[in-house]
Amino acid sequence: MQDQAQTLTITRPDDWHLHLRDGAALASTVPWSAAQFARAIVMPNLKPPVVDTAQALEYRARILAARVPGSDFQPLMTLYLTDRTPPQEIARAKASGAVFGVKLYPAGATTNSDSGVTDLRNVHGVLEAMQREGMPLLVHGEVTDSQVDVFDREAVFIERHLQAIRRDFPGLKIVLEHITTSHAVDFVLANDARDARGAPLLGATITAHHLLHSRNAMFRGGLRPHYYCLPVLKRETHRLRLLDAACSGDPRFFLGTDSAPHARGAKEADCGCAGCFSALHALELYAQAFEQAGRLDRLEGFAAHFGADFYGLPRNAGRVELRRQAWTVPLSLDYMDTSIVPVDAGETLHWRVAPAGAAATQA
Ligand code: DOR
Ligand code: ZN
Repeated sequence: MQDQAQTLTITRPDDWHLHLRDGAALASTVPWSAAQFARAIVMPNLKPPVVDTAQALEYRARILAARVPGSDFQPLMTLYLTDRTPPQEIARAKASGAVFGVKLYPAGATTNSDSGVTDLRNVHGVLEAMQREGMPLLVHGEVTDSQVDVFDREAVFIERHLQAIRRDFPGLKIVLEHITTSHAVDFVLANDARDARGAPLLGATITAHHLLHSRNAMFRGGLRPHYYCLPVLKRETHRLRLLDAACSGDPRFFLGTDSAPHARGAKEADCGCAGCFSALHALELYAQAFEQAGRLDRLEGFAAHFGADFYGLPRNAGRVELRRQAWTVPLSLDYMDTSIVPVDAGETLHWRVAPAGAAATQA
């Protein structure tokens, strides 16, 4: 094709769902994300989890200290909701100006979720405070009931819990994180309430790997642990609904990589960890998905406008350039004293972010 665009310049994007980990990992994870994104909502599922504002501020300082000189990357912190979170913590979090959401992990749903919420009735007071303060609830939407098929856990969570949260806290801002099913898309589409600023009260993040892959990717020619994440990849019909939603231009759907680094050995194990690492090449992966759908023109809204609008933050002023250029995702990257395998390792991508300083401008 001759008339294909060779470059695509968009507003500098943000990542509205990211795992940076802590300690020595930050020396890798922070520069990787900062090379692609201006800001990121940073998940609190550390060991031990980030449960209060003081811990969030300390974690934020460690992230800022891991930036390369000249980087203006901004971590937007979150708290980890537990059965014992005091409702008064929400006002403290809001007043800090550094905490932008509170994450609900149903206990046992995923990596480091042991301290999560065992019964939503235990957090009603906190949810009330969040509704009052305008503090978003970020939801890992899966039931943990072992009787429920792992592929159905998101749909059942929506039915059993999310409908009730929406009904009981109609003014609460909610992000359904890393959605994977048509049920989640339908739930978001059916809830169009707005906050006082006219921004949606309910939004959803979508990962690049859920836009690009169905569950077949986990079993292509053998067991592929680097495609295992939670919520797990679903069947192709769901992937197509997600791609449709992401490319629709509806501001309730926005970018969240859920890039979740685990050392190679922790994934290639007899009980491997859940998580796909995509921070290195997130924007390129999203561009690949949007191009497949013939909607590259909708990438900018999804990646750089809608999330900021949802959170009531200014859109970034800088711009970033993607160039059409075939390149191969590395098979492995150095990560602390070990290595990490990026999602789609060894595959060819067709877009590449221009290096900062070339065309990317800092806001
Ligand atoms: O696959 C996942 N990995 N899903 C999550 O919800 C957590 C994440 C992690 O922290 O590794
Ligand atoms: Zn996550």
